[in-house]
Amino acid sequence: MAIAETIHGVLLSETMDLKSFYDLDFGDRARDVRLLNPDEVQDPGAIRFAVCWLPGPDAFAPYPNMEMAMSVGAGVDALLNHPGLGDDVAICRVRDPHQADLMAGYAVHEVLHVERGFAQMQADQDAAQWRPLPMRAPKELKVAVLGHGTMGAAVARALARLGFSVTVACRRPPRDPEQGVTYTTGDGAVMQAVDGAKMVINVLPLTPQTENVLNKDLFERLATGAWLVQIGRGEHLHEEDFIAALDSGQLSGASLDVFREEPLPADHPFWQDRRLRITPHIASDSMPYIVSEQALLSARELLAGQPLSLAVDPTQGY
Ligand code: GLV
Repeated sequence: MAIAETIHGVLLSETMDLKSFYDLDFGDRARDVRLLNPDEVQDPGAIRFAVCWLPGPDAFAPYPNMEMAMSVGAGVDALLNHPGLGDDVAICRVRDPHQADLMAGYAVHEVLHVERGFAQMQADQDAAQWRPLPMRAPKELKVAVLGHGTMGAAVARALARLGFSVTVACRRPPRDPEQGVTYTTGDGAVMQAVDGAKMVINVLPLTPQTENVLNKDLFERLATGAWLVQIGRGEHLHEEDFIAALDSGQLSGASLDVFREEPLPADHPFWQDRRLRITPHIASDSMPYIVSEQALLSARELLAGQPLSLAVDPTQGY
């Protein structure tokens, strides 16, 4: 009897136990795909793919025959910039519509929290004060969304459906534009989108072109007292320019979910800054069952020599 061919992969993360968190122990579910923790690998030469979240600097070194590295998240910056991965290794990412919905929920929550003054109302409740706050029509609030991948599109759609005036910066005109959303495209897209915006939501992928995109020039284009929702990557934010914009009042505050160093160190000044709302990189996550399904799909495509349907374009960075 012919023995079915099996493909072997390894789980690489410095920060997570990927196997249990994302249900990646296929067992009898898929006997053709074996995913191992590094300490379970007996023959490193047999490893053809990796499933990763923040792999360490030497994580790929033991595996000479790596053909594909897959991110369990939407961002692939940690893989595209990894010194241990050559150009011949395909990079894939999970594409999870539920993750985009979570991202949209986080953005909507922060926009409403700030716009409707919920922090003030919490303080009023603590002081037993009945104090209705003034409000304005959502369409009077210009919200700029930076990025129009799966995440940016979901964020823009959710905010537009609540009536906000949404402008999205994207690389190319969208194939399926959302009714009521304005799009800016091309080289000046980001600056055009943020012009006069009272809220800016960053969901750009991290690439050499987008690093430090949240800088002085951008802050100056916003309406005075604007609010930043930062759910891209820590490296998008130029921290000195950011603090200067807060100190000058050009920004009134920010919701920060991502940081240059994660976990954010306990002595980082951001923790104590009352102008900031800090969350621990939880704006969204991919669903474990989707990660499991898509890791299996990619491994089987590799095994069958088929095109990898979840591959990213390394020249674009997403
Ligand atoms: C989260 O940051 C992700 O990349 O999915």
